[in-house]
Amino acid sequence: MLLTSGQVSVVLSSGIVFVFTIVLFLSGYVLQQRTVHSLQAAIKPRLPKPLPAPKPILPPTLDVKWARPIGARPANDESLQQFLAEQSLNWHRLGYTQMVREHVELCSAVMLLADLQKMKSPAKRLLLFPRAWLKQAEDDYGYNPEMMTTKRLLKTAVRRYGVTLVPMESFVDGADDSLSSSYSLASLYSLVNYDRIIYLQQPGSLLDASALDSLLAFSDSQTMAAYPATPDRQDISMNMFLIHPSAEEYTRLKDARASHPMTDQELFRKSFAAPTSLISEWSLSMGNVVYESRSLRDAVDGFNATLFEEATTYVRFSDPEIPGPEYDLPFYERVALYPQNEEAKEAWKNLYERFRQRRMEVCGLDLEIWTKPVLQVDSADDAQGAERAAEL
Ligand SMILES: *[C@@H]1O[C@H](CO)[C@@H](O)[C@H](O)[C@H]1NC(C)=O
Repeated sequence: MLLTSGQVSVVLSSGIVFVFTIVLFLSGYVLQQRTVHSLQAAIKPRLPKPLPAPKPILPPTLDVKWARPIGARPANDESLQQFLAEQSLNWHRLGYTQMVREHVELCSAVMLLADLQKMKSPAKRLLLFPRAWLKQAEDDYGYNPEMMTTKRLLKTAVRRYGVTLVPMESFVDGADDSLSSSYSLASLYSLVNYDRIIYLQQPGSLLDASALDSLLAFSDSQTMAAYPATPDRQDISMNMFLIHPSAEEYTRLKDARASHPMTDQELFRKSFAAPTSLISEWSLSMGNVVYESRSLRDAVDGFNATLFEEATTYVRFSDPEIPGPEYDLPFYERVALYPQNEEAKEAWKNLYERFRQRRMEVCGLDLEIWTKPVLQVDSADDAQGAERAAEL
């Protein structure tokens, strides 16, 4: 059936009318909905704007998680003075120190200071070394490979890692300045331009600098705040010190040491009694500030390597069978030392491997060859030592 043109136009126009009606209805509906919404908004009670989050006053690179340790801080720490001190922190008067008495120690010391720079710690980095090396470097340069490495590492420390070199005299007046025993950690007290310094015993691996930065920044200046040797806080350990250097303390230690020869540990334990010379307990609530690598062998079930690394600041290598992480051990000997716990074993292997890689990056040095000492060698060494002493 065919439609005439009149019928077609009627169908078309009624279609158009229908479409317009729909459009009109819809736009009316939308308008009405909008009005309803704005009415609803108008009657609704106004909610107060949330307050801005309180901003902790912290030095630039501090990690909030460590700056506000859980656990009680002693009352005298939260005084107004402390608050003001935090605001006017002078990072030029806070520092990390390393001290080397022998050439073999130098690379590990530079590595630690390099790690602090890599982790963007704002504190100064200081390296104490025997002043005698400077003279020796001039005399022997080009002949003594050990001295050449030392000279290269000292330069690298300054140029690449922003380290301040501090040549030191022997601690005992008139002592032979070529012997490591003539130097003492007590020389740290001569750094009187600094309010607080942290010393870490090397070799070690720094996993996170923020906890240490917080310690430097927020602690009271105390003559000695040492890491406890045991959890019962009966003695100071030599792993870590937070020191307020002073000329009086330097003189006192020098006199004590001059009275009779003793090791640094004897000198320090005699001069700084626990628990008054220990780091405050709130500092310890920051996790493992200092951890000894051999403790990984005591790990119990449920030890988690990820959590361990997150909660640990500094690991000192302390496995008694190994002279240090800078020595290469035959594979089978290394395997014999692995912790039993699988997770602890991973953490242990990671620490040593990371040290090896970093040693190459920072010092350009491979691991040293090490052969396990045989018992008879001891007496031969003694004889040699005696001969050498006699020559001197
Ligand atoms: C260790 O802890 C992390 C973080 O809580 C978790 O993701 C991981 O699965 C844990 N690993 C083991 C072996 O339990």
